[in-house]
Amino acid sequence: MTTIQQPRILGAGVNRVDGPLKVTGQARYPNDFNLPGMAYAAVVRSTIPSGRIRRMDTTAAEKSPGVLEVITHENADHLGEAPATFIKNPQPPLQDDVIRFYGQYIAVVVADTQQNATAAARRIEVEYDRHEALLDPHDPRAERIKDPWGEDTAWGDVRTALNRAPVMIDQTYTTSENTNNPLGLFTTVASWDGDTLTLHDSNQWPNMIQQVVAAMFGVPRDAVRVLTPFVGGGFGAGLRCWSHIPLAVMAARHVGRPVKLELTRPEMFTGLGHRTASINWIRLGATRDGRLTAIEHESLTTLPLDGDEYEPCSSVSTWSYASPNVTTRDQQVRLNIPWTNFMRAPGDAQGNFALESAIDELAWEVGLDPLEIRLLNYAEVDPKTGRPWSSNALRQCLEVGARRFGWSERNPEIRSMRDGHELVGYGVAGVSFFWYQQPCSARVIVKGDGSAYVRSAVTDIGTGTYTIMAQLAAGLLGLEVDQVEMQLGDSSMPVGTAAGGSGLTAALGSAVHDACGRLIQKFVDLAGTDPFSPLANVPFEDVEVSEGRLFRKGEPTRGESLARILAVHGLTELSADGSSTPNSPEQLGMTPAGARGARFVEVRVDEDLGRIRVARIVTVNDGGRILNEKLARSQILGGTVGGVGMALFEETVTDKDTGRIANATFGDYLIPVNADIPDVHIEFVGEPDAFNPIGVKGIGEIGLVGVAPAIANGIFHATGKRIRALPITMDMLMD
Ligand code: MOS
Repeated sequence: MTTIQQPRILGAGVNRVDGPLKVTGQARYPNDFNLPGMAYAAVVRSTIPSGRIRRMDTTAAEKSPGVLEVITHENADHLGEAPATFIKNPQPPLQDDVIRFYGQYIAVVVADTQQNATAAARRIEVEYDRHEALLDPHDPRAERIKDPWGEDTAWGDVRTALNRAPVMIDQTYTTSENTNNPLGLFTTVASWDGDTLTLHDSNQWPNMIQQVVAAMFGVPRDAVRVLTPFVGGGFGAGLRCWSHIPLAVMAARHVGRPVKLELTRPEMFTGLGHRTASINWIRLGATRDGRLTAIEHESLTTLPLDGDEYEPCSSVSTWSYASPNVTTRDQQVRLNIPWTNFMRAPGDAQGNFALESAIDELAWEVGLDPLEIRLLNYAEVDPKTGRPWSSNALRQCLEVGARRFGWSERNPEIRSMRDGHELVGYGVAGVSFFWYQQPCSARVIVKGDGSAYVRSAVTDIGTGTYTIMAQLAAGLLGLEVDQVEMQLGDSSMPVGTAAGGSGLTAALGSAVHDACGRLIQKFVDLAGTDPFSPLANVPFEDVEVSEGRLFRKGEPTRGESLARILAVHGLTELSADGSSTPNSPEQLGMTPAGARGARFVEVRVDEDLGRIRVARIVTVNDGGRILNEKLARSQILGGTVGGVGMALFEETVTDKDTGRIANATFGDYLIPVNADIPDVHIEFVGEPDAFNPIGVKGIGEIGLVGVAPAIANGIFHATGKRIRALPITMDMLMD
C-alpha cells in the first residue's frame, strides 16, 4: 500500500460532510437535547472577588414557582478531587464558603422550566465577609511563579551580547485579556440512570470530561458517557472541565431527573476562562546591518488563585529567528480573577505580537526594509539545537506574500502614503507557530458493501475534522469520500485527544493512517489464505488500493474488491484499531516545525479622527500537507478575523475595585463585524512535513497569529506612531 497520495500539498476542497446536517438543523448540539422529564438549572455567581460567604438565604428561592431544588455549599454533595488533564481542572464547586473570584458559582437552582430556575436564582440573598482582593498584576503581595513550565531557555550569553550590540531595541509590549466567545452557549445535559451517567456537553475533549466527572462523582470511567458530536465553537474554551458541568451532574442526581444547564453569555465570560493579559519585555541586540546578535524575551501573565495555565509567551523567541544568544523567561502572577485559559494560539499570539513588533522597530532603527530584516535573520535550522526543521517554508510565506501584496510598491518613508484624509501604511509580520501533538486512537471498519466507518472519541469543534478524516481514510482505503462515514464525539469510542493546540489533525490523522494500514494488512492476510485469490502470496508492500479494490502494484486487473474478500470469507465487516504517538525529535534527528506564516496588511488611518481601517490582508501559511484546501482557508479566514479582533477590538475589562468583568456581553465586548474585515487573500505554501506519516502540521490557530503586529507595524508606517499595547484604539492615535 502506498502510504498516502503524496506529494500533493493541497487536498481537494470538498464540502463539509456534515454540512447538510448543519444547514438543515439535524446536527444536534448539546443545547438541542431535551430529555423526557428534564429539569432546568440556573447558576448563582458571587458578586465579590475575594472573601467568604457569611450567610445565604434561599427560602424565597425555594418557595419560587416550579423550583425543585436549591443547592449551595451547605447541601452540596462532597465531590472527589478533579484530576489534572494536561493542565489543572477547576476543583469541584460548592465545596466550601470561600470566594476566589467575582463570578464564582455559589449556588444552583433547579426548576421545571428555565424561566422559573432563573427567576428563583435571583431571589437568593447572600451576605459576604469581603477580603481585600488581588487584582493588579503589579501588586507586590500577589504570588509570583517563575519558570512555571520549566521551559525558560538560554543559550549563548545574552548579557554580553546586548552590552556589545551596536544597535539595541528595549521595549515593553502588552496585550489585554480576551474572551474566547464561541457562539454556542456552553450547555450540559446530565442524565443519570442508576450509577451510569450520560452527558450531552459542549467541550473540545470528551474523554477529558469523562475522566474528570468520573473522578469527582466516584464512579468508574466507563460509567460516564460524554457525547459531543457537535459543538458551537470553542477556540480553547472547551479544554477544561468547567464547574458548570459537575453542577449539572450534581443537580441531576439531587432531583432524580435529567437536568439541562445552559450558560448565559455573561456566565460564559466568567465560567470558561479567558486569554490572559500579558506584559512582554523584549531586548534585541543587532549589528548595524540588522543581523540579530541577541534576543531577550520575558513575559508576565496572570492566572487565577487556584488554577494553572500554560501560556509561554516568550517561547516564540526561541524558534522564530536565528540568534546566537537567546534568553527567554516566563512568569505568572496569581490574582482573584476568573480562570485564565487557552484561547486560540495561547502564548504564541501575545509573544508573536511582541517579537514581531520589536523586529519591526529594529528594521526602522537600522534602516532596513521590514521584510528584508526578517529574511536576513531567517532561521535555516532550529536555532536552539541546530537540528534541521521537519519542514519550514517561512521564507516562501514571506516571499510569496510580498509578491501577492505588492510590497515593492511601498514607499519606505513614514507618513509618505496617503489617500485623501487617510494615511496609508503597509505592515508585515512573520509567524512561527509551536508544534503540538498528543497520542490518539481511532478504529476503522470496512463493511460488507465495501464502505467504511471511522470512529474516535474526539470532537469536531467546527474546524472540519469530520470531513478531512473522511477524505484521509477514503484516500488510504481507496474509497470515495461519501463511502466513509465518520463517527466522532462519543467518549465510548476509541480514546481521543483534545481538539486543541492545532494538534488534532496530526494526532487523529496519524491514528487513522495507522488503523487503515493495519486494516489493509488484515485484508491482504485474508486474501493470502485464499489460494484462488489473485492476491495470494502478495506481500503487503506490493499491494495497492484504489476504487475499493486491492491489487498487485502496477497490475490493476490482478486484484479483488474489499467487499468480495469479506464475502469470500463469510465476514460482514473487518475492523482495525490504530493509534498514534508523536515521534521523538531526537530519534528523527529533526525539530518538528509548527506551521509558519506571513501577514501583509494595508492599514488606513484617518488623520483627524484616528479611525483605523484594515484595507487589505494577505496571509500565506505553511501548514505542511493541507488535507482540504477549502476548509483550511476557512480556518485561516476565521483566525484572521480573530487576529483583527485582538489587534483593534477585543478587551475583557475587569473592574479594578470589584473584580467584575465590566463588558461581559456581546453589546459591550467588541468583536469585528463584516464591515471591519477587508479583502483577505489566503494562500498555502510548503511541502508535506516529515514529522508524521501524513505530513500535516495543523493550522487551527496560526491564522490569528501575526495579524496584530502586522497591523501595528502598518500603523507605524502610516503615522509614525508605534503602539505597543493591544487593542489599538482611536484614542492612541490622536495627538
Ligand atoms: Mo485551542 S486554544 O488549543 O482550542
